[in-house]
Amino acid sequence: MKTFRNLLVAVAAGSLSLAAADVDVSKLPPASAKKDVTYAKDIKPIFEKSCFKCHGEMKQKAKLRVDSLEAVLKGGENAPNVVKGNSAKSTLVHAVARLNADDAMPPDGKGDPLTKEQIGLIRSWIDQGAK
Ligand code: HEC
Repeated sequence: MKTFRNLLVAVAAGSLSLAAADVDVSKLPPASAKKDVTYAKDIKPIFEKSCFKCHGEMKQKAKLRVDSLEAVLKGGENAPNVVKGNSAKSTLVHAVARLNADDAMPPDGKGDPLTKEQIGLIRSWIDQGAK
């Protein structure tokens, strides 16, 4: 009986660590080599095409807007979504790279996934300080 309980504990602990390892950042596309990536010049057009309809003026899913630099940096319900200087820790990057099917953005069937190039650009923008 004691062994059985230990087994249950081990199973519970195992599933917990699985949940924590859910996001495998080694699967992220690499950051682009482009210099001086800015929201206004490089990132806004990507978000405008793929995100504004749910995270802009009309709708604010998860209380998130991505239609201005200030709004993206403020984040949504689970803010911050952008960690300046660290794209691998930014949940917005995990979302667009579709690391976890449940949090993939745009959601499945709600728009084309971003390309590796677009994700790389978003990564460099964040790594360079999200300006
Ligand atoms: C069709 C609507 C839709 C589109 C398009 C969309 N999202 Fe979302 N987004 C959602 C919904 C709904 C949620 C709430 C979480 C959920 O239910 O999955 C969400 C949540 C998020 C979150 C988590 C916010 C938080 O703090 O909890 C981020 C980050 C995000 N979206 C980024 C994006 C980005 C970046 C794009 C464009 C590449 C995008 N989304 C496109 C609907 C959308």
